[in-house]
Amino acid sequence: MRVLVVGQGGREHAICWKLKQSPQVKEVYAAPGNGGIAAIANCVPIEATDIIELADFAESLRMDLTVVGPEIPLTLGIVDEFQKRGLAIFGPTRLAAEIEGSKVFSKEFMKKYGIPTADANICGSYDEAIAAFDARGLPCVIKADGLAGGKGVVIPATRDEAVATLSEIFESRRFGMAGSRVLIEECLTGEEVSVMAITDGKKVVPFAPAKDYKKAFDGDEGPNTGGMGSHSPAVVLPAETAAEVMKKIVLPTVQGMADEGRTYTGCLYVGIMLTPDGPKVLEYNCRFGDPETQAQILRLEDDIFDVLLRSARRNLGETKLTWKKEASACVVVTTKDYPAGSSKGHEIVVDPIADDSVVVFHAGTSKKDGKLYTTGGRVVNVCARAATLSDALAKIYANIGNVRFQGARYRTDIGYRALGQRAASAAT
Ligand code: AMP
Ligand code: GLY
Repeated sequence: MRVLVVGQGGREHAICWKLKQSPQVKEVYAAPGNGGIAAIANCVPIEATDIIELADFAESLRMDLTVVGPEIPLTLGIVDEFQKRGLAIFGPTRLAAEIEGSKVFSKEFMKKYGIPTADANICGSYDEAIAAFDARGLPCVIKADGLAGGKGVVIPATRDEAVATLSEIFESRRFGMAGSRVLIEECLTGEEVSVMAITDGKKVVPFAPAKDYKKAFDGDEGPNTGGMGSHSPAVVLPAETAAEVMKKIVLPTVQGMADEGRTYTGCLYVGIMLTPDGPKVLEYNCRFGDPETQAQILRLEDDIFDVLLRSARRNLGETKLTWKKEASACVVVTTKDYPAGSSKGHEIVVDPIADDSVVVFHAGTSKKDGKLYTTGGRVVNVCARAATLSDALAKIYANIGNVRFQGARYRTDIGYRALGQRAASAAT
């Protein structure tokens, strides 16, 4: 079988790495891929958003399956284009991807189907948003409706900050059309977990829960990022709460989307806050999480190709996934200026790592004349699996210095919210 992976991050490197282990997969292609993916797959220089070019390429090589990593091609309708041409593709259609693409849509959807989430006002103008903010008071959350590259959520510390944020959104059009509507949302408190599941529109196959560390700096300080590290299991999610999340959130979401005529296939990612009133949805993503997937894949026993193809063919049947009992973790090494910037062009040296339970997935890297260079803010992911989460993290931190480039930075405390909690009762 021949598989095309669309995207260029650590998540896509992990997916290619796992696909390469499938006895059914003969060739893996990536578009556009990165410097690490190039070592295990054929990288083709087509951007993830060039949908027609991607479909032409998949058609010409008779690709047996295409797997889409990032959200933008999904919200642009890559799945619709491939399906129109009879090509198997893993991911939701444009209408289904709106669950991530529009926070207004997803909030109204959750209200309609009784899926627990933060209370929110939908506002289409600056004045409306200020009035809603003043009625709610601090703390509250401002969210731009559309995709904003992870920067569309602001939790203002003061009214002045809220006013400045709303005026940037409505008056300076900071997010373009993505900010033509906002949510003014109740601020939830509790522990966050990432719950993912693969679905064919009916049947739902849970992925191992994971936890992601979004803030830039140790102690969960600083701005939000795409994710600075992750581990699986989530540890903070007890098995009975995971079952409740499945019953009250994941299954009704898949059923509700089908009822809306937006049948959802692919990976559904639900960001959950474990509040004192029970689990509530913070956000949906229409794709695998990054960097959660890198940690989860290290624990996956099964052939990933089977489950992805079965989802694409709407034929999950009795598919079940099994997860190694061990824990896994991922620490992201970024450029010095991330998340504000992503200094490019620094040479990266990765010294050999003797411990083969440590895996380095690449994100913002490219290879030129045999040398690796930085191309994005999140540069590489150092990942490991071990008997316990603390052992996995110890292996990562013992080897992370083997990745060297000017201004390399990482959080030194990934896992801290889970360590010390009893892993034995956690959902696996
Ligand atoms: P989102 O882009 O919707 O995932 O939000 C990014 C991050 O903002 C989440 O992972 C949370 O840490 C935080 N967040 C979003 N919504 C809320 C909320 N209602 N209450 C508290 N924190 C939130
Ligand atoms: N790690 C969060 C995300 O993938 O959106």
